Amino acid sequence: MKITIDDIRDAKGKRKLTMLTAYDYPLASLIDRAGIDMILVGDSVANVVLGLDSTTKVGMAEMLHHAKAVTRAVKSALVIGDMPYESYQVNRSESVKNAKRFIEEANCDVVKLEWFDDCLKVTEEIIKAGISVMGHIGLTPQTAQQIGGFKVQGKDAGAAQKLINQALDLERLGCFAIVLECVPDKIAAIITEKIKIPTIGIGAGGACDGQVLVAHDMLGLFERFTPKFVKKYVNLSEHILNGVKAYKQDVENGLFPAKEHTFSIKQEEIDKLKK
Ligand code: KIV
Repeated sequence: MKITIDDIRDAKGKRKLTMLTAYDYPLASLIDRAGIDMILVGDSVANVVLGLDSTTKVGMAEMLHHAKAVTRAVKSALVIGDMPYESYQVNRSESVKNAKRFIEEANCDVVKLEWFDDCLKVTEEIIKAGISVMGHIGLTPQTAQQIGGFKVQGKDAGAAQKLINQALDLERLGCFAIVLECVPDKIAAIITEKIKIPTIGIGAGGACDGQVLVAHDMLGLFERFTPKFVKKYVNLSEHILNGVKAYKQDVENGLFPAKEHTFSIKQEEIDKLKK
């Protein structure tokens, strides 16, 4: 059964919500089969898959390409298209059109956008166009330069109050959930208590209504950097490296392909070939 935004809203206070990123068919299929509530086609694809140094370097073309692969695989989870920087912060007037493309072309269920100066206006316009929006406050990687870099946000009363106000404003506009990224646990707990929609934390402590991680981080598939808030549940890089090394050795030593990997032909057919 497909998870709806009503299911996500209703879960608040009853059960913890789960969310992971996916950018392709095989991983999306596994995450869906594991019963994760929400799959985010995140712009983190820039860092963990495309080898770029900033999420601002992916655009609509890349995001739609990945989102289409994910939605082909998913049967149950709510699929969230992460709006890339250019799609609503650079080309502000194109934001509704771009949000619609995630739904109509890539079959996503909803979109997510990060907090920025004009966030409320853009969020309001997208919601008015009939598209459900997940907010994202705290550390917002697309505008990291403007908020002092990749740092925990809301560490003094003034900054924390701003985050609380942002969450209340996004709730008032009709967002169905809000990601809190790199926020002190006590501030995340206050926000979670103050709003009626679910908070989904990443580096925001255990009081949030749900948790999200970048799948490549928690599966050990991204080796360049591991943030403090990540728990690695498995080290797939090691397994992949071992598998690839074993294949190389087998090929070099004539052990692969073996008979069971090989197609045969009857000797009488070989005998008919012109000599
Ligand atoms: O793009 C992403 O992966 C995200 C998560 C960190 C929430 O926005």
